[in-house]
Amino acid sequence: MAAPQPPPDPGPALKTYMGRTIARTMHWSAGGWLLRTEREREESTAEMLEALEVAEGWTVADLGCGNGYHTLELARRAGPAGRVLAVELQTEYFPELLRRAAAAGLENVECVVATAADPCLPPASCDLILLADVYHELSHPPQVLAALRRALRPGGRLALLEFRAEDPEVPIKRLHKMSRAQMLAELEANGFEVAGEYGGLPWQHLLFFRAREAPRPGG
Ligand SMILES: C[S@@+](CC[C@H](N)C(=O)[O-])C[C@H]1O[C@@H](n2cnc3c(N)ncnc32)[C@H](O)[C@@H]1O
Repeated sequence: MAAPQPPPDPGPALKTYMGRTIARTMHWSAGGWLLRTEREREESTAEMLEALEVAEGWTVADLGCGNGYHTLELARRAGPAGRVLAVELQTEYFPELLRRAAAAGLENVECVVATAADPCLPPASCDLILLADVYHELSHPPQVLAALRRALRPGGRLALLEFRAEDPEVPIKRLHKMSRAQMLAELEANGFEVAGEYGGLPWQHLLFFRAREAPRPGG
């Protein structure tokens, strides 16, 4: 029997990508900020979740889920027939996330341990993949986006939520914001096309993407 092959080397963590400086990952010990009570007022998170139009029975991945601020509500919306894959690099978040899910009576949340270059999602498994305030931190954007393309079901969508760099009134550090043009350029360079946009949030862009079809030979 052939010896198991080590995973391919994903290459070094990037410092910049397509002219953008990549932000450093927020450490889990600062995770209390993600659960701040004013978050709903500042970000209209309920309105954002509504705009995702999650249907019962869906499989949703919350990539870079942190302590699960969005995960629990996604799980409620996907219902008992659906599931939410809570994907994180920093596994320190998982015990508290699972405790909160259990306290809310949610049994459809599964934790997935990611690496910086691989979200470790099964192929063709997700109806929706949410990256809420995460994409600007990815140290291996092309590798992660390639894996997310593979993880989407036919018709599945990727939702990118990012603080608006164009708006100086949004009180977030510059490297933790993105412009709409930069989001489009990076996603389009990695085989995605725009599938929709929700423009009603106070501080953030919410852009939806789907995998662009590979060109047919001779087409
Ligand atoms: C600013 S926090 C946002 C957390 C959560 N989405 C929220 O809105 O409350 C960004 C999270 O993305 C995670 N992250 C960064 N790169 C990642 C990767 N390649 N795969 C999985 N998680 C990642 C970080 O560990 C961090 O917890």
